[in-house]
Amino acid sequence: MTIREALRSATERLDRHYVSNSRLTAELLLAHTLTVEREYLYTHDERTLTGEESQKLEDRLYDRISGVPLQYIVGRQEFYGRYFRVNPSVLIPRPETEYIIEAVLDSKHPARPLTILDVGTGSGCLAVTLALELAHSKVFAADISFEALLVAKDNAATLKAPVEFVCMDAIDAIAAQLDFIVSNPPYVRRDEITQLQREVREHEPHVALFSPEDELAIYRKLVRAGEAMLQPGGYLIMEVGIRMDEQILRLFGAEWETLPTKNDLQGIPRTVVARLR
Ligand SMILES: C[S@@+](CC[C@H](N)C(=O)[O-])C[C@H]1O[C@@H](n2cnc3c(N)ncnc32)[C@H](O)[C@@H]1O
Repeated sequence: MTIREALRSATERLDRHYVSNSRLTAELLLAHTLTVEREYLYTHDERTLTGEESQKLEDRLYDRISGVPLQYIVGRQEFYGRYFRVNPSVLIPRPETEYIIEAVLDSKHPARPLTILDVGTGSGCLAVTLALELAHSKVFAADISFEALLVAKDNAATLKAPVEFVCMDAIDAIAAQLDFIVSNPPYVRRDEITQLQREVREHEPHVALFSPEDELAIYRKLVRAGEAMLQPGGYLIMEVGIRMDEQILRLFGAEWETLPTKNDLQGIPRTVVARLR
């Protein structure tokens, strides 16, 4: 079978199983199988696949049709213009989380190397991006999942980002006098599990999706951690779930100044920003 035939047949199969973006998915799966860029598929469309390549493509199509997210199959996801390795130990970085990066970059931070903590780093997308965008800053990244930290460390090494990783719960103090705490914590309520897409529910790590207590508990811990670890004028920037913004803003006491919550592209209030007075 040639590359052109493989692409046509893979696209048809994905369509029959209602997989979205079937043509693009077929191209990405085949490019990953052949370890080439997508453009290669068009410049070499008469090339014949070996038996081993056809079998690998078949296995990957089966996984995708069974609901495995494309990013876990190809093993990467783009975030703020860089590719991050992902596997089922980490949440797949989402575009709305990039607003946290923008909130940090747009803030009135001092013009000196900054000290930043990312709580619940997952793939390391926030910590690594901040370390690279704000050169000379001291970036710490924490996660309760040891497996996630392995992926984050690997991403930091590949992207040459100086980040210090710690395995810890959100509440542990790690350093004082921080300029920023950023976090995209687990915020889905347990009783919302059936509303999640099957791909998310069955394949993304539950420790990244669900809070073990009520969904506000981790935010309370983050506000307390901010009061203990931020220096005056330091920022706490957190992603929040749909319709959670007002409840979360109420967690901040008089020692905080809350700034306007940033909406995502769908107009959903998504990024809460607060500054310690
Ligand atoms: C929603 S994911 C975010 C991952 C990454 N920051 C991102 O935005 O793609 C939440 C992360 O928080 C971690 N986590 C869950 N509970 C935690 C806790 N109590 N303390 C620290 N990390 C926690 C999970 O392991 C997971 O990696």
